[in-house]
Amino acid sequence: MAADGDLRKRRVAQAALELVAGATTIGVGTGSTVNFFIEALAAHRGRVQRAVSSSEASSARLRAAGIAVLDLNELSDLDLYIDGADEATAARHLIKGGGGALTREKIIAAAARRFVCIVDDSKIVQTLGKFPLPVEVIPMARNLVARQLSAGGGRPVWREGFLTDNGNHILDVHGLTIADPVALERELNQITGVVTVGLFAARPADVLLIGTPQSVLTR
Ligand code: 5RP
Repeated sequence: MAADGDLRKRRVAQAALELVAGATTIGVGTGSTVNFFIEALAAHRGRVQRAVSSSEASSARLRAAGIAVLDLNELSDLDLYIDGADEATAARHLIKGGGGALTREKIIAAAARRFVCIVDDSKIVQTLGKFPLPVEVIPMARNLVARQLSAGGGRPVWREGFLTDNGNHILDVHGLTIADPVALERELNQITGVVTVGLFAARPADVLLIGTPQSVLTR
């Protein structure tokens, strides 16, 4: 089963490679699907020279693939961002942050003209929320934020032992059925102590590439 999942991830990562032709600098996200994408970039050296990255882990992989990693502040614009997701809807609303890189992912998505999200078909859902929603919080505000998330009907669980690349904590919020992702993202962003909500709805993906056992679909 895992091997089958890997095949779909590999296939969609390979399809994303076709989109980078002509881009000198791209945004690169984080996760196992993106790792296949970086592997594909490494096999086609020269196709991309420079990248901005959403995590220290991806930066290390990119450098090992011979791709220079820039600070986003060095760029005045960014054409393309490739990243995975934990859940995605037909409206291209996403839950992200399973790998804990949601804050830098949201920053790069905001900076990019085009955000291409690469997923396998197991990630496609009617309604977001089965995957626990990651929320990055300032450490001292963790319990304060957790109480407010509980009052709102979620069941926040501290991802204990995990620190984000920004030195923050993650609460994974279970038990949500997210009927209006844009409204929930806006609401959770208002809680003091929240750094980033792993809902990507106000700025959804522009293109969804979906790896299936047979092919890659574009939405
Ligand atoms: C990391 C993310 C990833 O894109 C998401 O967790 C999907 O990961 P994978 O490709 O390993 O399934 O948001 O913060």
